[in-house]
Amino acid sequence: MSNRPRVFVSRTLPGGDAPGTPFDALKAHAEIDVWEATEPPTAEALRARSAGCDGLLTVLTERVDDALLDAAPRVRVVANMAVGYDNIDVLACTARGVLVTNTPGVLTEATADMTWALLLAAARRLPEGDRALRGGGWGPWHPTWLLGYRVSGATIGIVGPGRIGRAVAQRAQGFGMTVLYTGHRPVEDFPGTFVPLDDLLARSEYVSMHVPLTRETERMCNAAFFARMRPDAIFVNTTRGGVVDQAALLEALRSGGIAGAGLDVMTPEPIPVGDPLLTAPHLVVAPHLGSATLETRTAMASLAVDGLLAGLAGRAPSNAVNPEALAAGRRRA
Ligand code: DGY
Repeated sequence: MSNRPRVFVSRTLPGGDAPGTPFDALKAHAEIDVWEATEPPTAEALRARSAGCDGLLTVLTERVDDALLDAAPRVRVVANMAVGYDNIDVLACTARGVLVTNTPGVLTEATADMTWALLLAAARRLPEGDRALRGGGWGPWHPTWLLGYRVSGATIGIVGPGRIGRAVAQRAQGFGMTVLYTGHRPVEDFPGTFVPLDDLLARSEYVSMHVPLTRETERMCNAAFFARMRPDAIFVNTTRGGVVDQAALLEALRSGGIAGAGLDVMTPEPIPVGDPLLTAPHLVVAPHLGSATLETRTAMASLAVDGLLAGLAGRAPSNAVNPEALAAGRRRA
């Protein structure tokens, strides 16, 4: 039997196993079991396939928690192919000496581009126009038909001045916009003005969310949040659906409390077609496509593989979420 590490990969990676792909790089160092289906593994299947593995390469649908770690006691590293890692109980991993890695940086530009795609589509009512045209509703040109909102010269508020928030702000400069941002503290060289959240909501014509999903940010976009936004403002979310109270968003859109919204993320995902949220007016939705370009997904897979191999070799790479886990792991060994 091979003494190479055993790894479970919870989804096929871009490029499959062709030479030069991230999977190919992993194959050179480990025995691999891949979940080939499009549907994610159930918790039970994940436990069964992870048992006996030394490392896991997961995506955001896999919950890595005590139950999984109990079922897979050999696991030393979990490489999450996502920048967000709210699917992972990091404290539970650290306590067991399990290194967690994510994929920061490589999806920044793609996600910022997607934020702008949603912002522009919501502002200029593209899906409504598309539906009208295809449904035979394109009448003669009319001065007041499908009027949207200005983008150039408007004010945008960025909530969460991390990498993606910064990339969104940089793009806003190209539109000659005033950029406000809020977070725990001002960030050096951020291309915008730091203001408290209340000011940002009161002044921004666009509010774009770029905070990770944590206990602190869960449902932070609630009725009080939307009530503080301008009635002509558009809300954009490309981070995690969990930061939004969707019933409150639906009400804000229905009542005209805000003018529109663009969402790439929802709760749950996939959202059922009958979900009340999808009945909201002036809502543009995308099925979690922020990082969905071949280049970006390949770079994410590659970074996840690098993190996995480093962890298996007992090293904490720069994309380690809990480098302190290595010391705990050594104590455990
Ligand atoms: C992430 O990386 O967290 C995204 O949501 C998936 O691209």
